[in-house]
Amino acid sequence: MNTLPGQRVWVIGASSGIGAAVAQELERQGCRVAVSARREQELHRVSGGRMVVAVLDVLDAASVRRAAAEVEAALGGIDLAVIVAGYWERMAAVGFDRDAFVRHIEANVIGMANCIDAVLPRMLEQGHGTIAGVASVAGYRGMPGAQGYGASKAAQLNLLESLRVGLRGTGVNVQTVSPGFVATPMTAANSFPMPFIISAEQAARHMVRGLTRGRAEIVFPWPMAIIMKSARLVPQQWWPRLMAARSREQRS
Ligand SMILES: NC(=O)c1ccc[n+]([C@@H]2O[C@H](COP(=O)([O-])OP(=O)(O)OC[C@H]3O[C@@H](n4cnc5c(N)ncnc54)[C@H](OP(=O)(O)O)[C@@H]3O)[C@@H](O)[C@H]2O)c1
Repeated sequence: MNTLPGQRVWVIGASSGIGAAVAQELERQGCRVAVSARREQELHRVSGGRMVVAVLDVLDAASVRRAAAEVEAALGGIDLAVIVAGYWERMAAVGFDRDAFVRHIEANVIGMANCIDAVLPRMLEQGHGTIAGVASVAGYRGMPGAQGYGASKAAQLNLLESLRVGLRGTGVNVQTVSPGFVATPMTAANSFPMPFIISAEQAARHMVRGLTRGRAEIVFPWPMAIIMKSARLVPQQWWPRLMAARSREQRS
């Protein structure tokens, strides 16, 4: 996807944070935008009356399919689906919370799968389309306090990569977005240091640039991209020592 004006875009998880900012940036750049999430009032605030609003819960596959049909009817089709909806809560390694783990997998992994399920068949039928999924650099390595979030983000990275490989040649492209820290309601309560944190508007600009350039992988900001990509090369036996200070902090 190279030109934005006129593209029919559906942003899922657009009632706040990165999704809201990216929907507004895409609309500014001339896209016809539809926004979805659970909080209808917030969606209307983001839309400012200029976007299609379709309420859904990504945990409920039927509601995602219903919203996809509403968006297709209103826009006449979908060229780009941006899946942003996500969930984070800090977890303790000591006293592993199975229910919190499941909440992450359901919202981030099954939720993303439900969104893909709702848009992919029509994109294949029309012979073109782009699915952009928001994962995170947190999926690159196991971080203290992020057993649920990190595992779900690693699963998203693999899901999107596998889909990209499998769909090659069909006209449907898959793009993976991996932000570092972004100041949004999701990170507002974090008490740990968040290096190189950027605003949701900056994140949206990074994303839109990557989307227009058709990048398979959109990782930002660059210092975080370099650090987290390099972190992947650190041997397993050294990683806990490197993370020792963060681990103590998370346990306190
Ligand atoms: N902030 C960061 O530092 C950061 C870094 C890397 C990756 N990310 C990822 O970026 C994405 C957006 O996060 P954010 O920081 O912008 O957080 P946010 O402001 O809390 O936004 C989360 C969005 O997801 C939607 N959502 C959550 N559960 C949903 C559900 N069951 N059904 C439908 N929509 C749902 C929320 O809408 P409703 O509550 O209205 O449903 C909201 O629009 C997430 O995938 C997150 O993991 C964030």
